[in-house]
Amino acid sequence: MKIVEKIGNDVSIISLPSENILIGDYITIEEEEKNSQLVVQVYDERYLDHSSLIEDMVRDEVMKASTDWVESDPLQINTISYFIQDIRLLKCKIRGNIDGNRFTSSVSWLPSRVKARLHKIPVTKMMQLAGQNGLRKINIGKTHSGEQLHIFAESLDGQLNIITGKKESGKSHLSKLMASELVKHGAYVFVFDLNNEYGGLDRNKDGSHNTNMKCITLSPSDTLVFKLKYLGLSSMTGLLSHVLDIPGASLREFIKMWKVLESQNSLSMRSLGDLIQTSRCNEYVRDAIFSRFHTLLSSKLFSDERSFEIEDIFSKFREGCLVVISLGQISPLVRQMVVEIFLTKLVDLLEKKDIPPIFLFAEEAHLYLRETYWGDIITRMRHFGIFTTFITNEPNAIDDGIFRQVDNIFLFNFTNDIDLEKIGRVTMIDTETVKSMVRTLPRKSCLALGPTVVNLPVKVEVAQMDTVTLGQTRLFFESKKELLIQKNK
Ligand SMILES: Nc1ncnc2c1ncn2[C@@H]1O[C@H](COP(=O)(O)OP(=O)(O)OP(=O)(O)O)[C@@H](O)[C@H]1O
Ligand SMILES: [Mg+2]
Repeated sequence: MKIVEKIGNDVSIISLPSENILIGDYITIEEEEKNSQLVVQVYDERYLDHSSLIEDMVRDEVMKASTDWVESDPLQINTISYFIQDIRLLKCKIRGNIDGNRFTSSVSWLPSRVKARLHKIPVTKMMQLAGQNGLRKINIGKTHSGEQLHIFAESLDGQLNIITGKKESGKSHLSKLMASELVKHGAYVFVFDLNNEYGGLDRNKDGSHNTNMKCITLSPSDTLVFKLKYLGLSSMTGLLSHVLDIPGASLREFIKMWKVLESQNSLSMRSLGDLIQTSRCNEYVRDAIFSRFHTLLSSKLFSDERSFEIEDIFSKFREGCLVVISLGQISPLVRQMVVEIFLTKLVDLLEKKDIPPIFLFAEEAHLYLRETYWGDIITRMRHFGIFTTFITNEPNAIDDGIFRQVDNIFLFNFTNDIDLEKIGRVTMIDTETVKSMVRTLPRKSCLALGPTVVNLPVKVEVAQMDTVTLGQTRLFFESKKELLIQKNK
């Protein structure tokens, strides 16, 4: 390998195919007198584009086509010429400097073209040098050259993450893997499960129970019902104003009614319904409250007999738990109600320090999270201890401002230019790397960016899981089902 040129942060290197350098590889550039090494990462590869080479190739082809005599080349000149034609130009980005045994992202020297020696350096070695450390390992898969790659649960703690990529690229699989590993390390993970696909994580592939995994699935109107008393006034007013759009005057009247029932110690859906009907307030106000009351009743999320209490999870499962909130078979309105209740109640409990911080995995969050919650999640909720991972195949649904504050991004394949542009514009690394590396990613592989990989972009072939990963698309034709099974093997 030899350096050809350096323009800004870009370094071009020529390399022979036999050197086996792939996109995503890290290369060190060292000089004898210097005790530091420059680190670059290959983000694209091309043929050496020189007019004389192309002339040679054209001449060769014309000669071959026009003559049929046996070629005699005792000095093997042709072999050398073919070698040159096959030389590749590696486009690289400077990532930093290794000084002694430490990798830093600052660079202040230009290597010599003549004296520099270039070597490939394993990704795992780079991670060590960059100071990747922690106690709780999560094996997320292999690098493109087959090295086992792990991240540490600590690097997800307190962070905001996004998993994005096109349809069926493996996003939910990675999110299931991360969620279940976090639980194994004792964390509490809440999942807003839109396709009812996280429920199998406590079962092994052979059907047996996975004893390492504590998992509960909450289904609205079945295991997930609340008493008004448990929810409290702040959750109810949040629900009425943010999801059910109650007008201000009606909300004030509702609060008065709530206070009356509370003082009589008779807070229940039944007595609330009675009080609304017998109330002597303005007719329009009463109608507005009554229609909301009916929506609450028909959601089947409220009961006077039993109530789900979030705190119980923490006292029952002392060593972490996966809490799957099934949002698959309910209407969009009820979905929003469940999410609103959970988020307000969680913030309330965290504020009072009644529960430890939690991880939240939100699939296609734009379908049920109201606009203002996005900002809230990255500022206020994060401060209290809700660490969110958004999983989406529509990066455009996520606001630029949120993208810019994200810590870790796991990017699966995208071929659509608009999506790539958007991600390139807002991620912490350069657009060229994103565009070139993500476009060529196969299914089940992603580009990891952020503190989990010590800010060194890494291509990861995501590991398989031993547990049941539900969520396959339902199909009509048997033959297509078989093809899909083969593809996923
Ligand atoms: N690393 C992997 N190892 C084994 N199977 C995988 C892996 N990644 C994904 N799969 C399988 O590929 C299929 C699609 O994956 P997944 O559901 O995670 O994709 P997705 O990007 O979430 O799709 P969608 O956009 O439809 O939600 C699933 O059947 C899943 O089990
Ligand atoms: Mg999915």
